[in-house]
Amino acid sequence: SGGVITLDPGYKNTGSCESAITFLDGEKGILRYRGYAIEELAKKVDFLEVTYLLIFGELPTKSQNDKFHEDIKAQSAVDEDIKKILDAFPRTAHPMGIISSLTSALTAFNPSSVNVNSEEDMYKAIVKILGKMPVLVAWTMRKRQGLPFDYGDESLGYVENLLKMMFSKPNSCYVQSKILVDALDKLLILHADHEQNCSTSTVRIVGSAHAGLFASISAGISALWGPLHGGANQAVLEMLQAIEADGGDTKKYMAKAKDKNDPFRLMGFGHRVYKNFDPRAKIIKKAADDVLDALGIDDPILAIAKGLEKEALEDPYFVERKLYPNVDFYSGIIYRAMNIPQEMFTVMFAIGRLPGWIAQWREMRLRKEPIGRPRQLYIGATERPFVPVEER
Ligand code: SDX
Repeated sequence: SGGVITLDPGYKNTGSCESAITFLDGEKGILRYRGYAIEELAKKVDFLEVTYLLIFGELPTKSQNDKFHEDIKAQSAVDEDIKKILDAFPRTAHPMGIISSLTSALTAFNPSSVNVNSEEDMYKAIVKILGKMPVLVAWTMRKRQGLPFDYGDESLGYVENLLKMMFSKPNSCYVQSKILVDALDKLLILHADHEQNCSTSTVRIVGSAHAGLFASISAGISALWGPLHGGANQAVLEMLQAIEADGGDTKKYMAKAKDKNDPFRLMGFGHRVYKNFDPRAKIIKKAADDVLDALGIDDPILAIAKGLEKEALEDPYFVERKLYPNVDFYSGIIYRAMNIPQEMFTVMFAIGRLPGWIAQWREMRLRKEPIGRPRQLYIGATERPFVPVEER
């Protein structure tokens, strides 16, 4: 505290900060946004209200939420020249690389978003990225599918509009599924913030150099892409599909996960902070059941996931290391039921995490925190005399 970081013995030197946004208790499996339990928020409010809560610290009144949404909608237009950047990518480019690049490119089209020192200027940059990110996500998915871009419908809610831009089909009436809107809204709430995880720490440290909100978010997207972080949700599905292709032999994959000579890890399991169940995983597991039941989908992948979870929770190797399912273990099953392509899973994590990144960036800037500069524990050579090349 007070700017002095003391590393507990054995604690991994990953840096830390003070924040009033999200509280985690890894031992008890507690997650709260601005003091509100995630279990309540996931049931009682929508993603846009959670976005407002994380960024501004209070649940909005109806008029505050309506104005927030209007301000976001007013900024949802994306400069047509952004399409030229999108066109330059091969269709096979990973969407996270595209979204990170387009988000950074937004700076070029919104230069006033860089030098933001007043709350008013910060608010303008915030509603811009909240308005434009869903468009970039939808356009990126449709480019991969060779579909024309959809420009959305201002009469729809924030998540409804995202789904419409992603899934509308040319020359046909788009029918919104309330089940899918509610499921995605809940998933985005569960991903909205998670204190100082890898990508959020990246946003804070890049933002601390006053690099601008869009550049900071772009850096966070790149960090989230990693398979040990947000990229895990796609890796979980690929793992479950490999197990299914292997005749559902979960025991073989459990053995691989425990074999120190095998780099394979059980994706969707383990967490740096949670040494108990990830509270989000519990909510998502139930949501997966509900969505598949409601859609009448009997997905063998879900059965494999449940079998793997049961085995891991009873396996001494996993129990000793307190390895439980995390937020990524079941989320991909819902995205799959929504016909979201696997390569887009981590992009869905990014759009869920966007409010948290924004909130943490804004907190860091309002607190006028100095530029981030983590220290190191030097373990290299002590001073030594120079050796000329002929003597080396
Ligand atoms: C997210 O930080 C956040 O909050 C992240 C996140 C968020 O909302 O932002 O919650 C989102 O990133 C969730 C995590 C998604 N990643 C995965 O599911 C990938 C698989 N999980 C792991 O790679 C791992 O568990 C991490 C990266 C999540 C955590 O790694 P740690 O805390 O550095 O744990 P570790 O590598 O020190 O492992 C401790 C032990 C080791 O064995 P021993 O050396 O003690 O013998 O547990 C083992 C590890 O080998 N282990 C695993 C394992 N995870 C840890 N063994 C098999 N399978 C795994 N998944």
